[in-house]
Amino acid sequence: MAAEPPFARWAARLEDHLDHLLPPADAAPQRLHAAMRHAVLGGGKRMRALLVHAAGALLGADEKRLDIPAAAVELIHAYSLVHDDLPAMDDDDLRRGKPTVHVAFDEATAILAGDALQTLAFDHLATADAPAQLRVDWLATLARASGADGMCGGQALDIDATGTRQSLDALQRMHALKTGALIRAAVRMGALAGDADDAALARLDTFAAALGLAFQVRDDILDIEASSEQLGKTAGKDVAQAKSTYPALLGMDGAKAKLDELAAIMRDALAPCDERADALRALGELAIHRSH
Ligand code: IPE
Ligand code: IPE
Ligand code: MG
Ligand code: MG
Ligand code: MG
Repeated sequence: MAAEPPFARWAARLEDHLDHLLPPADAAPQRLHAAMRHAVLGGGKRMRALLVHAAGALLGADEKRLDIPAAAVELIHAYSLVHDDLPAMDDDDLRRGKPTVHVAFDEATAILAGDALQTLAFDHLATADAPAQLRVDWLATLARASGADGMCGGQALDIDATGTRQSLDALQRMHALKTGALIRAAVRMGALAGDADDAALARLDTFAAALGLAFQVRDDILDIEASSEQLGKTAGKDVAQAKSTYPALLGMDGAKAKLDELAAIMRDALAPCDERADALRALGELAIHRSH
């Protein structure tokens, strides 16, 4: 039987890397630095960083090199959560089992911490120890995935759609952008570190697009089926805020049928790959079946 994917080791590498990358809490401006560390360290499933490593492992990329985009994508993700939780957006007070940044600190600090996490991600990609062309490709991938054509665009669609019933196509596009774009970027950045050719990039992107959509469909399901304790964030918010979600549009059975469909797309996309794709396969399963 193949060895278990080294998720715990990759997550530990990430934590150490982020700890060194983030500004120290005892240097000025302390409040900003403490808020950035609060948002990033000691929590989260680290799905996007693990996807970077798993995609890189498939192509035999150097683990130390993969630490760079793994950290960058988690910084962007952490920033997106800090801003997503702000009163102007989802107005949440619990994240990763702790008070959200604007509650633990204040709103201005949360906005600035998110901004600074975002620029730190790009600073790190631009200046880390990797070939110049690879750094440019990582930068372009992550910038595109985070912006108006990616995560931010999806968040804008989410706000527009709140309180409305949108078409299935529109819902799928919103989820693909707000959550899928960054997940696709994570897989692509890992694959780029392993010098993937265009065919491999395309196959992995089919896998990552399905995983990204599945990840948000599962998030919508868990918002209804799981408890706040289990999630480390407030459950039941989507219905309370009239968010446009898969269960709201298709019902719980329809949302779960969508997950089955996406699981099949993920399996087919990796069918030509050998056991070096097992870490990616396991993360695909996790996206579908996760309980938090
Ligand atoms: C939460 O992401 C926001 C979504 C895109 C669904 P995660 O579920 O990956 O959050 P953490 O990083 O594990 O806290
Ligand atoms: C968030 O979606 C997607 C982001 C880009 C942050 P949600 O608003 O559903 O995420 P949670 O449930 O607050 O983690
Ligand atoms: Mg939201
Ligand atoms: Mg939210
Ligand atoms: Mg949610």
